[in-house]
Amino acid sequence: MQVRKTTLIAGVLAVTSMIGAQSAFSASHMKKYTVEEHAINASLTGKAGDAANGRKVSINRKKGNCLACHVISDIKEQPFHGNIGPSLDGVASRYKEGELRLRMVDSKQFNEDTIMPAFYKVEGLHRLRKQFKGKPVLSAQEVEDVVAYLLTLK
Ligand code: HEC
Repeated sequence: MQVRKTTLIAGVLAVTSMIGAQSAFSASHMKKYTVEEHAINASLTGKAGDAANGRKVSINRKKGNCLACHVISDIKEQPFHGNIGPSLDGVASRYKEGELRLRMVDSKQFNEDTIMPAFYKVEGLHRLRKQFKGKPVLSAQEVEDVVAYLLTLK
């Protein structure tokens, strides 16, 4: 057990050698994307996001859990919104779609010290619980759905 834990912390090379095929399998199922000027301009799935589902994913504590850290005034049915991060009200006026997508996929590419989780990343993660290895927090389509929802916050 200890060996496995240490291996996970040591990073992706060690993880790959330890769990071999399984990790390669998961990573190959991740959508490829291109980052240009701090943005991922193309949809990860090639499809438009569903803003209504993105709103649900944002609330869901096992998925986006955005309210743990952000105020989103549009979500009035949830009483407690955190303020660790900035309010997301009006975020669509501050960022372009592609910038929001990169922020969702891997917020560390904006700010390497951020505590905001990388929602679509399986490599180079630390402190990962074993059941989550090889799986991104959100699916590619859920990322698109959240981006579509964020774009409604004008
Ligand atoms: C653990 C806390 C945490 C969670 C959970 C979290 N964020 Fe963040 N987020 C932050 C922090 C802190 C920042 C401030 C900038 C930074 O650290 O990079 C931020 C910044 C942002 C920004 C840029 C806002 C701005 O005005 O600059 C967006 C957009 C964003 N988060 C969206 C989301 C969405 C959508 C979710 C849920 C899917 C989410 N965040 C979940 C902590 C979090």
